[in-house]
Parts: sequence; C-alpha cells; structure tokens
Amino acid sequence: MGIVLANGKLLNGAGELETKELLIEGNRIAAIAEHIDHAGHTVIDLRGQFVSAGLIDVHVHFREPGFEAKETIATGAQAAVRGGYTTVACMPNTRPSIDSVETVRYVRQKAEEAGLARVIPYGAITVRQLGRELTDFAALKEAGIFALTDDGVGVQSTAMMKKAMQEAARHGLSIVAHCEDDELIAPGSALHDGVVAARHGLVGIPSESESIHVGRDILLAERTGVHYHVCHISAKESVRLVRDGKRAGVNVTAEVTPHHLLLCDEDIPDSLDANWKMNPPLRSREDRAALIAGLKDGTIDIIATDHAPHTAEEKANGLERAPFGIVGLETAFPLLYTRFVLTGELTLAELIAKMTVKPAEIFGLPYGRLAAGEIADITVIDLEKEETIDPARFASKGKNTPFAGWRCKGWPTLTMVDGKIVYKAD
Ligand code: DOR
Ligand code: ZN
Ligand code: ZN
Repeated sequence: MGIVLANGKLLNGAGELETKELLIEGNRIAAIAEHIDHAGHTVIDLRGQFVSAGLIDVHVHFREPGFEAKETIATGAQAAVRGGYTTVACMPNTRPSIDSVETVRYVRQKAEEAGLARVIPYGAITVRQLGRELTDFAALKEAGIFALTDDGVGVQSTAMMKKAMQEAARHGLSIVAHCEDDELIAPGSALHDGVVAARHGLVGIPSESESIHVGRDILLAERTGVHYHVCHISAKESVRLVRDGKRAGVNVTAEVTPHHLLLCDEDIPDSLDANWKMNPPLRSREDRAALIAGLKDGTIDIIATDHAPHTAEEKANGLERAPFGIVGLETAFPLLYTRFVLTGELTLAELIAKMTVKPAEIFGLPYGRLAAGEIADITVIDLEKEETIDPARFASKGKNTPFAGWRCKGWPTLTMVDGKIVYKAD
C-alpha cells in the first residue's frame, strides 16, 4: 500500500509541465506515469499543482546548540519543510561550534528527533572557528558531516586555508567558504561601501573584503585540487573570479542568496531597519545585475538562503549593534518564482535545477531528482496561490526579514521527506 500523488504537473525534459501521477512506496518513488492504478493506495489529488524534487538548501543557521532563543533544529526544520525544503545543511557557528564528533552527533540526533527535513551539519574547518588549528577532518567525516566551513567568519590566514584544502582534498571533503577579509572592514560597518552608506555617513563593507578571499582561495583550490565552494557570493568582482576559475578548470562552485538576487543597497529604507542588515551586505545595483548574469550563465551554480534567524530584541538594537542576518527558508521559492520566473528572467526548470539537482550534484547527495527509483523527497507547490509574506506565520523563531508585506505566488503546499508527508498547508 503506497501513496499516489494524482493530478500533479511535473517538468519534462523540455522544461514543460505535464500532468503525471506518482506512486510512492516506502521511501522511494516507485513509478511516475500518466496513469497509475489507484487500487489499494492512498490517493492525494493535487488538482494541477506543480510537483518538484524536494528543495535543497546548503546554507542555513539553526543555532543549536547554544542559541536556542534564535532557532532550534526543530523550529528550523519546521521552517524548512514549510518552505518546501527537504534537505538543509546547517552551519557550525553554534556554541559550542560544530567542531567535534560529539557536537556533530548532537545535531544529527536533534534532527532525527524533529523528524522533518534532513538536516546535515557542516563541520568547522578550525577549532572553535578561531582560524588557528584544523579540526579532525577524518573524524568529522566519519561522524557524518556534509562538508567543511567556518561560515560566520572567513579563514583569515592564507597558510591555514591552504593546509585545510590539502587535508580536505585528502579526505574527499569540500571546503565551503564565507569569504571575508577582516582587515579590510572597519568595526561596526553594516552596509555595503557604496552610495547608500555614503549618504548616511556610514563606513561601509567594501567588495574587495569578499573578492580578495575568493581570488586567493581559487588559486589555492587550483593548487590543492579540492572542491571549493563560495558561500553567498555578493560582489561583481567575485563573480568574475569564479567565472575565470571555472574557465581555467578549477573545481570551484558558488551559491547566491535570494536576497542578493532580489535587492540592492538602494532598496534599504532610510530608517535603516536592521532587517536589511546581513553579511555580506546588499551591494550595488551593478553587483546585483552581475549576480543575475552569473546565475544565468552557470558561473553561479546554486541558490542557498543563508537562513540566519535572530531574535526581535537583537534586531531592534539599531543598525550598528544588531547582528547580521535574515531568515530565508519560508520565502525563498515564492520570491524567486514571482520575481524571476513570472517575469521571464529564468525558466521554472532553471530555477528548480538551482534549488534541487545542482546542489545535490555539487555535494554528492543522493537526492534532488524526481524519477522512478529515487528517494521520495518531494515538494508540491501551488504556482497560482498568491499570498502576502507575513513573518507572524513563520514556523521559524526568526521573523527577521526585509520581505514582509511582499505579495508572491508559488507557495509550497505539501512536503514529503523519505516517503513521509512532513508538511501540508491548511
Ligand atoms: O548574515 C549573516 N548571518 N552572515 C553570516 O555570515 C553569519 C550569519 C549568522 O550566523 O547570523
Ligand atoms: Zn557567511
Ligand atoms: Zn551563513
């Protein structure tokens, strides 16, 4: 006895939507066909909604252990499945940071208990993410990490990064980098070093604080042969460096966030609301155009949210003192679908690939494909449903988003992980 998802629309090889039925048996997709015998199965009528492989987000902050007031693994996983995500990779900047086998096990245990999305922890590159001493890559790999990163901070020492890449390459692990050269950033900077910061008399965060690390690391990746992935790329110079690196045959990939694709510094309201503060910052109009161009030409491989929940109290501390970061899991697909697919900038197939099969391929995950025999991680999306983004309805503890009040189409209505329905819109 299985589940039949009837009357759904699936993307075909030509990128068109076709009505198909899916049979889920156990944790696998048993069949996809025009007609499946419903006898003995539970039938769910999708009434023409879009069926996709479950979305994958390789960049989320779930704050546990240590910062449970911002988010827990359970609330983060709830936000994930409400946003249509079936697999998320969580960042190690917790307290303690995810730099030991015990903490990796703790996070995996919590994820298991939540029983919603697949939550796979990153392991820290350096002990306590201090940049001084490498963690035990072999042990972390054995414990089941997704990849290595010190996200939240950049690895400041070039020699340390080179050593990390050599070690990671030896263990078949990817190095995922938050690119930020601290020496180029004045304390308290919160906005991009551009026209908007200048207008407010603020010292900004310059693009080269990111792109210098991107350039450095691409050269080191070329030397060491490691798979190197750039987090939340934001500056046009970084896009150019990744493009050049790919042309030269370096194993470099990159992700961009929905907010860097949709917004630029000129969109920040004069109130300087801290829900517009994130790291890297929203950059210039030209940077945003370069990100879109990079996404379209394949320089930027995937979209990841950098879901970074903080409490309302922390975010009310004023632009300078509030922490960096905005939530993203529950708004990513509707925003991107509305602003890029409905406008003709991207096709639905292109958007879905950047959120499913491409992240799976880059990191060697056995998910992200909607086909018979695959694991049944499935997302159903109502492309017609139009709603206003309302942070009060988020499952995430974090309500910190600059997108409140935006009207979007394309809301996830049903999420299945490992053959089990883990979210159903009411
Ligand atoms: O905006 C951000 N928030 N950028 C980061 O690098 C860290 C993250 C966080 O942990 O809040
Ligand atoms: Zn980061
Ligand atoms: Zn991050």
